[in-house]
Order: sequence, then C-alpha cells, then structure tokens
Amino acid sequence: MFSHRTDWKLTPNRFTEAQREVSAAGFEVLDLTVSNPTRAGLAYDSETILGALARPEAMDYDPQPRGLRSAREAVAAYYREQHEGFDVDPDAIVLTTSTSEGYSYVFRLLCNAEDEILVPKPSYPLFEFLADLQDVKLVPYPLLYDHGWQIDFPSLYKAVSHRTRAVVVVHPNNPTGSYVSDAERSALNAFCAEYGLALMVDEVFLDYPHDGAARATFAVNAEALTFTLSGLSKISGLPQMKLAWVTTSGPKDKVSAALERLEVIADTYLSMNAPVQLAAPVLLEQRRQIQPLLLDRLRANLEELDRQLGKQKACERLDVEGGWYAVLRVPVTQSDEDLTIEILRKVSVLVHPGHFYDFPTDGYLIVSLITPPEQFREGMGRVLGVVNG
Ligand SMILES: Cc1ncc(COP(=O)(O)O)c(C=O)c1O
Repeated sequence: MFSHRTDWKLTPNRFTEAQREVSAAGFEVLDLTVSNPTRAGLAYDSETILGALARPEAMDYDPQPRGLRSAREAVAAYYREQHEGFDVDPDAIVLTTSTSEGYSYVFRLLCNAEDEILVPKPSYPLFEFLADLQDVKLVPYPLLYDHGWQIDFPSLYKAVSHRTRAVVVVHPNNPTGSYVSDAERSALNAFCAEYGLALMVDEVFLDYPHDGAARATFAVNAEALTFTLSGLSKISGLPQMKLAWVTTSGPKDKVSAALERLEVIADTYLSMNAPVQLAAPVLLEQRRQIQPLLLDRLRANLEELDRQLGKQKACERLDVEGGWYAVLRVPVTQSDEDLTIEILRKVSVLVHPGHFYDFPTDGYLIVSLITPPEQFREGMGRVLGVVNG
C-alpha cells in the first residue's frame, strides 16, 4: 500500500528506548543536546515579536510565489547590514517555511529520480530523509580532521558520477563547527565548473563564529550556480516562526532559468503565511538581541568545557570555529551508542553519539553549546566522570 520511499525503520532505536526508560523511572535527565533555542532559557523580547505578528494587512491574501516583496527586501537588508558589501537582489530570493523546504525545492529543481547529490560526512542527519522524500541519492564525501576540519577534495573528485547534480556544503558545518575556507571556496567553484554542478550552501549557523570574525556568505557567489539556504531558526533563534529562504546566484542565464522554475515549484505550494512575512523585518532585527546572548553562551560553555577537560586525560575536544556544537573525542572501548546509553543510565545525562552525524568511526560524542550553563557544567562533569572510568 505504501511507497518504498517511506519504508523507514520506525521502531525506536536503543538510545531512544534508554531515554524513555530513564525518564519513566523518574530520573531527571540533564540534556546536553538542546538545539531548540526557545527552550534554552534565553531572554526574548516577546512583546515586540508577538506585536509584529498582529499587523492589519495580514487580513489580506496576496499570494506571491517567491514570497512578499517586503519580506524579501528584509532578507536582502540582513545580508547588506550583517555581511557588509553583499548585495543580494530581493528577486533572487525565494521564501520558504524552513531550510528543509528550501532543500526540497532545490532537489526538485535539479534532480530526476536517482540522481545524486554530494553531501559532507560527518554532517546534519536530516539530509537522509529529505533525499528519500525527493527520490534523490546522497553520496557522501568526507571531511577530514587534522587540527581543524577540511574537505577531502581527492575523495570529492572520486565521488562524482554522471548522475551527480550538486554539492552540498554546510558553512559552518553541523556538528563539526568548521567553515568553508577561502581556498576551499575556490576549489569548490572549480570543481562545480568542471562537472557542471550546482552548489548548495547551508548557512543557518553563519552568524555564530566563536572568534567574532564574520565569515563571507555564499549568497552572492558568482562562479557556480549557487543556492544559499538560511532562515530565522538560527539567525534570530526563532525556529517556531517558520521563515527561511533560498537565494540564487551565479552565471546570469543559469540564475534566471533556475528562478523561473523555482517560482513554479513555490507557486505550487504557496506555503508562506501572511503574518510572518509581514513581521519579517522585525523578526530579522531580533538577531541583534539574540545573537550576542547566544554567542556569550557558546563561548562560556566552551570555556567551561575546556576547564573541565584540562583536569582529566581520557577525553579531548576537537577544534571548532563556529556554530552551536562541540565534538569530543573519547577512547573507543565500546560503540558510541553504547557509551551514550551508559552515560544516560549511570548519570542521567543526554549526549549524542557521533554516528548520529555519520562520523566514520566510533570515539565521538556531540554536545550542544547552547545548553543553559548550569546544566552544561553539571552535565559535563558527570559525562567526564563516566568517560574517565
Ligand atoms: C545544518 C542545518 N541546516 C538546517 C537546519 C534546520 O533549519 P530549519 O529550521 O530552517 O529547517 C538545521 C537545524 O538544526 C541544521 O543544523
């Protein structure tokens, strides 16, 4: 009765079962995987945010496939103001409800069934489902760690086939926190030119460099046909508002052909709602309040992590440049899943095993740096207690 693409294994995995068991037994779990900013104890300006949603114009229905012009102009203003010198044409922006929807539109635009997309490994786990739903095949290319993460270009070249349509990069990547360097950017453009591929760049964490030095967006990348995805969920810490976008840049003829087609895809769904689009300028401005809070939190937790790591031997942290996560390297005495289950059962702390993000081997744990600081300090202490035996 059902499509093969929905033949997912829907039984809970051992890690999820262990979480249920520990909660059912009445233990309070310290969650070090918090990725929902609305539940991270941050001070939002709720009055301004909610006030912006009650505009009288929201009673009018003005179906615009790319999204309301005023909202697209607000996105262009974000690039102009936050990423000085980057002038994004509002007509090159298509609004979506989420970055996930943006991925789906672009996969639909570029791929026939079974066409291939190159994706980084380790990276964001939702890619698998997005690809399944669009009948696209993901082909991973490795990121290598050697005092910082780098794209393994020889492997990228080996991964390309006549079915490849695009390369995905996450800038900075989740969970490795590594930005695409200038040299990698040039090499990616050359790679795309050689094989006629598009570039898809996920920049949801772009504004969270830990050293405070802004990194360049790909939103105006002119060489390859480039789709840059971002949205309010991380930029303003407002995932519940469901406002994201895809900007298209590159060679003029390709950009206009891509936009005409993207417009038809977006017109088929018309998924944007009026209140959020009308509130877009205010919601985007909220970044000025929320990003400093989040950056302070990220840095404080990272400092606390390093302080605790300095007092033990078994565990170390990998270099991180930006984003909301830290990767810990731990001795491989069992699988990462077994270790996270042991940590949960012994000390009631939730951390993610590396294999959730497709780390190639065991020996990695992932923690969220947006966790409230008290919870982070206490939780890390307990995790390191278990890892150090
Ligand atoms: C790399 C990356 N892209 C996209 C998203 C989701 O963004 P959105 O809420 O706009 O779908 C996440 C969420 O954690 C993410 O880590």
